[in-house]
Amino acid sequence: MQSTKPGEWVDAGAGLADIDFGRFRMSIPTDRYTCAEFAERERERIWQRVWRVAGRVSELPNPGDWKEYRILDQSYVIVRGRDGVIRGFVNACRHRGNLLCTGQGNMKRFLCPYHLWSYDLDGRLRGVLREQENVVSSPDKEGLSLLPVSVDCFGGFLFLNPDPEAAPLLEYLGQEVAELLAPYHLDEMVTVLDVREALNCNWKVVMDAFEEGYHISGIHPQLLRVIMIDPAKSRYKFFDEHSVSMAPFEVANAEKYGPEEQVEGILELPETFPSVQAALPRFQELVASYRDDKGELDFPEGVTARTLLQRATRETLSGMGLDLSGLTDAQMSDNHGWVLFPNFFMTVRAGEATVIMAEPHPDGDPNRCVWHIVSVMWLPEEHRGAFEAAPIEVTEPGSFKYFLALQQDYEQMPRQQAGLRNRRLESMSLVKEEVVIAHYHSVIDRYLAGASRGAGDE
Ligand code: FES
Ligand SMILES: [Fe+2]
Repeated sequence: MQSTKPGEWVDAGAGLADIDFGRFRMSIPTDRYTCAEFAERERERIWQRVWRVAGRVSELPNPGDWKEYRILDQSYVIVRGRDGVIRGFVNACRHRGNLLCTGQGNMKRFLCPYHLWSYDLDGRLRGVLREQENVVSSPDKEGLSLLPVSVDCFGGFLFLNPDPEAAPLLEYLGQEVAELLAPYHLDEMVTVLDVREALNCNWKVVMDAFEEGYHISGIHPQLLRVIMIDPAKSRYKFFDEHSVSMAPFEVANAEKYGPEEQVEGILELPETFPSVQAALPRFQELVASYRDDKGELDFPEGVTARTLLQRATRETLSGMGLDLSGLTDAQMSDNHGWVLFPNFFMTVRAGEATVIMAEPHPDGDPNRCVWHIVSVMWLPEEHRGAFEAAPIEVTEPGSFKYFLALQQDYEQMPRQQAGLRNRRLESMSLVKEEVVIAHYHSVIDRYLAGASRGAGDE
């Protein structure tokens, strides 16, 4: 029976030839990567106003689990209440403003270490030292709850928005985004990598770097064997703030690369896409079934290494219990690149996703940022505990070895920032293949101009 799957959008999705480039900013001024005043405007108009990821829900499994979330000099605390509900608060005591807590942990109630006021997990002021002798009357106490901050969950991620007027998260993401992402079951995936490290580049240099495949030939030549860098084959979908794009996972030049080369390309994938590993045993079985008596590989019409990887992935992951019924065959192999404004880039396919996030450095220097890499993977219940990764904070530059493609980006990004700092270079010129960056910076412009929603769908 034929059913409709949200991932089928790529079949009719916009290609480069269908896009009206006049709608987007193709020339990007460089001062937005280096100028302190620009960073200040971003702070007010973006960081104080938008939903952004503040962690994984799995960091707060039990009532009383809490974590601090900081951005620039603003600190918030996110806590799971006794009722199981996750809430967010401004991390400042209502007495004289002391930080309530730093780091993360579990507690029955918040106790401010300065003068020992205490708060329930739902933010209500509970205890005041020598309350009877002090002037705080009951009605005052009512009004001295911790200041609430909107938090919500989507896809297993914790989101936070400091804006008291924030629209609900689902409204911000949009119904279509939610529907397109639902079949991946991101909320059931386990965090297998969680690394933060300060980088010598603006946070948008990181975002830009993941929003285009144009640099693959220059920086990740090893990927040319498996990702189709043919601008005519890429597909794009633009939302108000967000976007998704897709470049098929396929040996680029089937005439040049025969079956053996295609298979080799797939076998090397785990260097860059680690969870492909799980499907490789089945993939190799399938490949073997196409070898003749002499061991020669001969794919019939319609069979390629890509289609075999798709079959192997579906069979392997379904066999482990993941419901793949909502995903297309192409989603078994092809990564979709999601940009959720302002700082979330995710490459996702069946069973795994890697998220790259970047935020301004707490010291406020626009030439620096903190990047945060989170990889999640679907695993059967019994293996989840063994693979769950604890967060790593890298303090010694170069000491953490990222997987190959990420390491290559890590080394590249500070070079771009160094060039962008040249005062004579006033703007960057985007090419068509960088249309996601163009859309992204148009959204930034809109926010900085004080508007939020606007441009509409492609
Ligand atoms: S500042 Fe928290 S109790 Fe005084
Ligand atoms: Fe890259």
